[in-house]
Amino acid sequence: MRNGITGATRLAAVIGSPVRHSLSPALHNAVFEATGLDWRFVAFDVPAGRAGEAIAAMKVLGIGGYAVTMPHKADAARAVDEIDLAARALGSVNTIVLRADGSTFGASTDGQGLIESVLHSGHSLSGARVVVLGAGGAARSIIDALGRAGVADIAIVNRTRDAAERAVELCAVARVGTPGDVEGASLLVNATSVGMGHDDLPIEPALLRHDLVVADIVYHPLDTALLRAAAAAGATTIDGLGMLVHQAVLQQQLWTGQRPDPAVMRAAAEAELAARSR
Ligand code: ATR
Repeated sequence: MRNGITGATRLAAVIGSPVRHSLSPALHNAVFEATGLDWRFVAFDVPAGRAGEAIAAMKVLGIGGYAVTMPHKADAARAVDEIDLAARALGSVNTIVLRADGSTFGASTDGQGLIESVLHSGHSLSGARVVVLGAGGAARSIIDALGRAGVADIAIVNRTRDAAERAVELCAVARVGTPGDVEGASLLVNATSVGMGHDDLPIEPALLRHDLVVADIVYHPLDTALLRAAAAAGATTIDGLGMLVHQAVLQQQLWTGQRPDPAVMRAAAEAELAARSR
């Protein structure tokens, strides 16, 4: 028995292109290793347009779960046998489970991952007023999940107004907002890519306050200019590994039926990011 892999070992994988730099193998394998769960996680580079074949392969090979990333999220939503509410609303699937009856179930865990990272930090969302910066794929998943989490108001602030107007349709309490809406909000989420690899800020730092929770989805770098400004204003900060880790927790729970420890995944992600920056 080499590497502990036996004839009974179950497999999960990320499908996407490119997938070489995915953090998912590090996150999921860390939990399998720590708990002794007889699963392994690998990455399959699947060319655009071939997600349907990869999903059909789950059934013949008995692959227990997929994490789905670019460019397959919309194709996967069409190719699975059944999808959850979030995946239906978004037309996008980031998680596939091969069920015991041989059918495939697609879910979208990104938005709920952001919600759980906020709840995990000890903050309530019920009745909250929220500002979401961005209206792309990640922002849409967050807006959809916030709607189901019982928030009172979602102001969507985006560079391109058309995209904000389309995102409003996801949720009854969402509206097109302005940066000034941060004044009445208790949670600010940066769901744009601004802050990735440079010092740009997605909003005026003067709008940040000590009684605000500021969550960023950017995790490269982890200490974005936004989070540094938020910390300087005394705000509570949630970095981009919050959403990444908690959406992976939900994925693994769907595949194995067991809830993994977010702290194990976070430590693995931090170690992987640190190794890459050396
Ligand atoms: P993802 O899947 O990560 O959400 P996306 O769908 O391309 O990626 O969305 C990127 C988001 O970041 C969008 O809201 C985009 O704004 P636009 O709709 O105006 O394109 C936002 N974004 C990206 N670069 C930006 C920049 N330099 N300034 C402001 N917003 C930016």
